[in-house]
Amino acid sequence: MIILENVSKSFSDLRVLKDISIEIQDHEIYGIIGQSGAGKSTLLRCINGLEDYQFGRITVDGVPVSVKDKKQLHQLQKKMGMIFQNFNLLERLDVYDNVALPMKFWGMKTNTPEAKKKIEGLISLVGLEDKIHVRPRELSGGQKQRVAIARALVLDPQILLCDEATSALDPAITREILDLLQRINRQMGITIIVVTHQMEVVKQICEKVAFIKDGKVLAIGKPEDLFIRPSKEIKAFLHESSELLPDNGVNIQLFFTDESADEPVISQMARKLNLDFSISWAKLEDFRSNIYGSLVITVDEKDKDKVLKYLDEVKVLWEVLS
Ligand SMILES: Nc1ncnc2c1ncn2[C@@H]1O[C@H](COP(=O)(O)OP(=O)(O)OP(=O)(O)O)[C@@H](O)[C@H]1O
Ligand SMILES: [Mg+2]
Repeated sequence: MIILENVSKSFSDLRVLKDISIEIQDHEIYGIIGQSGAGKSTLLRCINGLEDYQFGRITVDGVPVSVKDKKQLHQLQKKMGMIFQNFNLLERLDVYDNVALPMKFWGMKTNTPEAKKKIEGLISLVGLEDKIHVRPRELSGGQKQRVAIARALVLDPQILLCDEATSALDPAITREILDLLQRINRQMGITIIVVTHQMEVVKQICEKVAFIKDGKVLAIGKPEDLFIRPSKEIKAFLHESSELLPDNGVNIQLFFTDESADEPVISQMARKLNLDFSISWAKLEDFRSNIYGSLVITVDEKDKDKVLKYLDEVKVLWEVLS
């Protein structure tokens, strides 16, 4: 549905996006993750035509996104709702009028029975029925983001673009907002693009993710494929380093997927091979409610081959860390 082909963009001399190619399917929740300054917001702004690009092609539903054709661009923008880190609500308007704002902007009536039903329906979808005539200053951050989500949905978009939508919220509220986005994706079939520097966001809801660094896409895949066995660059992004591991012995990292995560592989191996080793590092992670784990064991050099052979036999993925 949304296709970027070799997109490049510069701000005068600064190349911000470099040859970006991404394909986002209908109804997908797609993550774009990377460090501050990587070009994530710029990429999102190019997708909805707020920003122009110099090279390549972006199409939404086969229609090219180009700032040159203003009329066509406005029609495209109507299909895309957007939410931001700082919510961007108008303080002088209450919740109802904030949600209704895009309709006003498009010259639609907001006080007809249908409009009222629509707006109130969205306000209850985001769980703010009791705040309908409250001003933004009386709302918490999470509630403000709920208003922004309702507002982004008021024109029946096919796509929702989220730029660091949960970065200003605490972990519990972040989870609630992500649950809401996931519900919107499932119930309304809306394609969602989330731009974030938070791993948690990608792990909780994204089906696919593009990792970008310095304006370049370095990896695309399922979050669990990118992050359970991270490349050097992704490791650096995650601040995972092997410096803390023991240097007397061989460090072997084991990877457990959903099926193998609850097998007692380690204790069985110790018993069957009759050997001792230490567990030096471990993590368990939840990707869209699937549990994945990783573990580093430190074994004696003389036991290394035996251990690797055993791990192959029980079909556990491993990697010897240098
Ligand atoms: N309007 C602009 N004019 C000039 N340079 C810009 C403009 N907007 C962004 N940049 C530059 O483009 C680069 C990418 O910025 P962008 O905002 O896309 O990064 P980001 O990945 O969204 O970062 P963050 O996580 O901090 O939001 C930065 O070096 C930034 O300074
Ligand atoms: Mg940004």
